[in-house]
Amino acid sequence: MPVEIRYQSGFGNEFATEAVPGALPAGQNAPQKHPLGLYTEQFSGTAFTAPRAANRRTWTYRIRPSVTHHPYQETPARLIRSGPFTSIVTTPNQLRWNPLPLPDQPTDFVDGIVTLGGNGDPAMQTGVAIHLYGANASMNDRFFYNADGELLIVPQLGSLRLHTELGLLEAAPGEICLIPRGLKFRVGLLDAKARGYICENYGQPFRLPELGAIGANGLANPRDFKTPTAAYDDREGDFHITAKFLGHLWSASIDHSPLDVVAWHGNYAPYKYDLALFNCINTVSFDHPDPSIYTVLSSPSTIPGTANCDFAIFPPRWMVAEHTFRPPWFHRNLMNEFMGLVRGAYDAKAEGFLPGGASLHNCMAGHGPDAESFEHATAADLKPQYLDNTLAFMFETQLVVRPTEFAMNTSILQHEYYECWQELKRHFNPGPKGK
Ligand SMILES: [Fe+2]
Repeated sequence: MPVEIRYQSGFGNEFATEAVPGALPAGQNAPQKHPLGLYTEQFSGTAFTAPRAANRRTWTYRIRPSVTHHPYQETPARLIRSGPFTSIVTTPNQLRWNPLPLPDQPTDFVDGIVTLGGNGDPAMQTGVAIHLYGANASMNDRFFYNADGELLIVPQLGSLRLHTELGLLEAAPGEICLIPRGLKFRVGLLDAKARGYICENYGQPFRLPELGAIGANGLANPRDFKTPTAAYDDREGDFHITAKFLGHLWSASIDHSPLDVVAWHGNYAPYKYDLALFNCINTVSFDHPDPSIYTVLSSPSTIPGTANCDFAIFPPRWMVAEHTFRPPWFHRNLMNEFMGLVRGAYDAKAEGFLPGGASLHNCMAGHGPDAESFEHATAADLKPQYLDNTLAFMFETQLVVRPTEFAMNTSILQHEYYECWQELKRHFNPGPKGK
């Protein structure tokens, strides 16, 4: 049966939605007796006393409250890892990985999560974990929530249908979706196989970046973010909830679907965003602005202007800079740069960085175009050029991303990555005035 999914537009709005007329109380949050017999439950994503602009909470009206489950028992975490990421020594080397092989055994979204690295600590509510996922099975009677952070999901292969407490949303490659910390959901696959990236953000929720001198418009516009309308799942049966709590996985049985919210209002909710709607700002004269001009979402740290994590994208766009080396320049950075590729090719790399693959350039690690890209870009005829068929992204984080044992021992790690820069030749010619 086709599923109709309806969205509400806006970022962090005070949304209000009901799947059954009269389910959303008018004029107050918690009536003495709900007219349709629903339970009232508040879902808080920030401290009660967080500043108004950052405050996130939603009132839900549900068939049963969330406490109606059996006790959680610890369950194997498979390849999911969590901060503090101290099990192995962190290398200063540049790292790059091939795409994660897709599973050949039945594997759902949660079982298919593999952690590549991370920083900070969910117990300190700071840092991120960076995961890949590969799945070939839908979650039907299994639900998941993550108390450790919100999940920014970047599909690379296959579309996902996310059934959440607050409604349904779908995300295809080229889109992203965000599941708030604590929200219960299950993932259905709309294609035979699915693969992608996850930024698990232990820190402050992602928000839209300030625009400063850009002005009131540009980058990701608020109205292009889509939040689901209420849709509930009135099912009874033998179900399980898997919880991620302080890095461990826990499982509890429950005799009904926890996705039983009939109406809700508030601003703590999942959303999706089509990256094709990102309004790129770039130079129309010369030189190379910093990649922060491509920031879609930002999770601030406690240091002003320094993100716990920025999510930036490098989408199709015009390149018009005159007398300029157009690809990203050579760089060393205090911040730590994890990159992925959804489709196409990335303009700083001739080969080796594949859709579904990843790279990591940590604090002060030199990086930049490979030899072939450098030679090409320094000799190119600088006409306006449309950079097509490309969608790369970056999770840029304040703290060093510490790879997991899996990341350093897996066969998809490219041990030869360093070789791509070894052919960068000496070109220096001091001329007649030099020695
Ligand atoms: Fe960089």
